[in-house]
Amino acid sequence: MAGPALPVRTARLLLRPHRPEDLDRLLEVYGDPDVCRYIPLGPWDRAEAETQLAARVRRTDYRGDPGLLGLVIDLDGVMVGDVVLFPVQGEPDTAEIGWALHPQHTGHGYAEEAARALLDLAFDHYGLHRVVAHVDARNVRSSRLCARLGMRLEGRHRQAHWARGEWCDFEVHAVLAQDRPAEGAPCSTSSSSP
Ligand SMILES: CC(C)(COP(=O)(O)OP(=O)(O)OC[C@H]1O[C@@H](n2cnc3c(N)ncnc32)[C@H](O)[C@@H]1OP(=O)(O)O)[C@@H](O)C(=O)NCCC(=O)NCCS
Repeated sequence: MAGPALPVRTARLLLRPHRPEDLDRLLEVYGDPDVCRYIPLGPWDRAEAETQLAARVRRTDYRGDPGLLGLVIDLDGVMVGDVVLFPVQGEPDTAEIGWALHPQHTGHGYAEEAARALLDLAFDHYGLHRVVAHVDARNVRSSRLCARLGMRLEGRHRQAHWARGEWCDFEVHAVLAQDRPAEGAPCSTSSSSP
């Protein structure tokens, strides 16, 4: 299967592969301790950001080599964050989704818009069965984002991962291909008569 046609355009955003010139912005995102608080990455220094970016420029196809789709969220030529889709080992046609925004660009719906487009690729292009998000239970903004994306909260695993010197609870949110509305279906399922 060929990779998806890139970049992907949404109403306000362009989702495009990472480029070497993204280094400064990538470092502003993943060098920020607040951004990294609830994720198993960072905060990076410049050398680490260079290493990570070198890997990210190759992440252009979920089914390719190295088997990840990582895209920059680009707003009018400015990197405002990134999203990623990668396989869950041992679970066929199941992917994990992740996201991060530049701290100056939260609160505008950019993560939701980008993640929706990535879910469209996951189900419509790659034909996946299930997409999950593992969210630190303290990461309220990510939990809310999952809900807006139609991902269901399937459970909370107590003290199930060791992160930054403490045991942390994490939530599993997931959406199945069958959960998604059929193309052309009405948005409302209200049965009230006029
Ligand atoms: C998780 C994260 C991406 C969420 O960011 P966010 O800004 O809350 O999410 P969105 O971009 O979807 O924006 C939604 C907010 O924008 C508001 N908004 C404003 N204009 C909007 C518009 N036109 N469309 C949609 N939402 C809009 C929404 O009301 C919502 O705000 P609220 O939650 O206060 O009601 C961000 O907090 C982050 O990068 N965290 C660090 C990285 C991280 O933890 N990643 C998690 C990996 S699991």
